[in-house]
Amino acid sequence: MKERQLSKVEITGFEARHYDLLMNLITGGTYPFFIRRVVRDMGIRPDDAILDLGAGTGRNECLMARYLSDRGRILGLEIGEEMLRQAERRCRRFPNVTFERRRIEEPLPYQEEFDKVFISFVLHGFVQEDRLRILANVYRALRPGGEFLILDYNEFEPEEAPWPVRFAFRRVECPLATDFVRRDWRAILSKHGFADFRAHYYYFGYVRLLKARRSPQPTD
Ligand SMILES: C[S@@+](CC[C@H](N)C(=O)[O-])C[C@H]1O[C@@H](n2cnc3c(N)ncnc32)[C@H](O)[C@@H]1O
Repeated sequence: MKERQLSKVEITGFEARHYDLLMNLITGGTYPFFIRRVVRDMGIRPDDAILDLGAGTGRNECLMARYLSDRGRILGLEIGEEMLRQAERRCRRFPNVTFERRRIEEPLPYQEEFDKVFISFVLHGFVQEDRLRILANVYRALRPGGEFLILDYNEFEPEEAPWPVRFAFRRVECPLATDFVRRDWRAILSKHGFADFRAHYYYFGYVRLLKARRSPQPTD
């Protein structure tokens, strides 16, 4: 089996059609409040050009779009047909929100076009080699000084976590998530041209919005 198939972030079928509802249920109804707080913490400016990698159902785009003026825009990239259809339908009232069907670990055609690149609960689902390809895409797509925002699990040792978290990481999440949370992301990002880190924490510190700025030159 190719390692990429271990990923659980490519979402199709029932899970895709009911993704938002499932997230609300899994988080005991707290997800809508949580994601509003995250979008507020993103510090979106009215004229920002934002690239969202693995856009999902468009829920995040609709929330982000409220912070933008007519000069701001959002481009969401998504590979799943069902997710993409929902996102397009949901965001049709926002003319400055568009979507493209692309694989985010493959070379992307954007060069210094975006003020922010956002990736929400996607990066953990790739093998490290593909995560680094995504970082290279992000570096190229951001304007110098632009911000990379990773919303995902924080760093921790799953085997030392309380039993519900341990259970989720052993039985529910993809094995790649365990690899993701064991890595030092500030060190990895520093090596790939990002600096000036800031973080916001949610869900007892198990979830983090990590912000990093694109440095003038990649160090690798
Ligand atoms: C866990 S969901 C998160 C969706 C959204 N970012 C959110 O926070 O609600 C992961 C999303 O990434 C998409 N995805 C997975 N692999 C992808 C890839 N290689 N390229 C583009 N999108 C991908 C999935 O189809 C899914 O919509």
